[in-house]
Amino acid sequence: MADLRVAVLASGSGSNLQALLDAARDPEAGFSIVLVISNRPDSGALARAERAGVPTATIGPDGRDDAGLIARLRGARAGLVVLAGYLKLVPPEVVAAFDGRMLNIHPALLPAFGGPGMYGRRVHEAVLASGARLSGPTVHLVDARYDHGRIVAQWPVPVAPGDDPDALAARVLEAEHLLLPAVVRAWAHSADAPGHRGTGAPTLAFAAPALGPCAALPPNLDEAFA
Ligand code: GRF
Repeated sequence: MADLRVAVLASGSGSNLQALLDAARDPEAGFSIVLVISNRPDSGALARAERAGVPTATIGPDGRDDAGLIARLRGARAGLVVLAGYLKLVPPEVVAAFDGRMLNIHPALLPAFGGPGMYGRRVHEAVLASGARLSGPTVHLVDARYDHGRIVAQWPVPVAPGDDPDALAARVLEAEHLLLPAVVRAWAHSADAPGHRGTGAPTLAFAAPALGPCAALPPNLDEAFA
């Protein structure tokens, strides 16, 4: 089976993109990053793509150029589109063109702490203000609303006593860098996954990766369970 061709949309520093680029270097990954698009010409994500020799493109700052986005994604023959820190709402025409084949990663356990305006530090401030004892990344299918599509995978991350938003953000980000590549790799290896055959019907259901949260998460989390 040919590698799954993955296009990434990103607006920020691109650490999730970097996790995907690193994972794709495994000969058994089953996927390759074929295009990186940003609405910010100066984004760290574009710089990371260029360093990795991956083709890049920029779109208008508002991200509303649906025809341009569709043309670039189809031109790259993308089988799967991943939003990795993309801060604009994807136009409905683009969502429809990649129905069931577009994923987003959000730094909280949706459906809580998501939706319009819930990005970056605000997410972790809201989690801490709620008193929640767990947070963690969510990978979900993209629909026409922010952070709303069907949940594909989540990874629980403990909220440690005394956490501030930056400490929690860093702990969740480490889990993001494990979860997103694991989902894309599983998607690439699932013969039923949309994107191989162009089908739009998502047939995938993932539990959190079978690594087991305690075993797989960075050691500095152990004290959080103390
Ligand atoms: C991540 O926290 C992701 O969950 C959110 O935006 C952030 C992007 O970070 N959607 P990076 O640009 O991948 O470093």
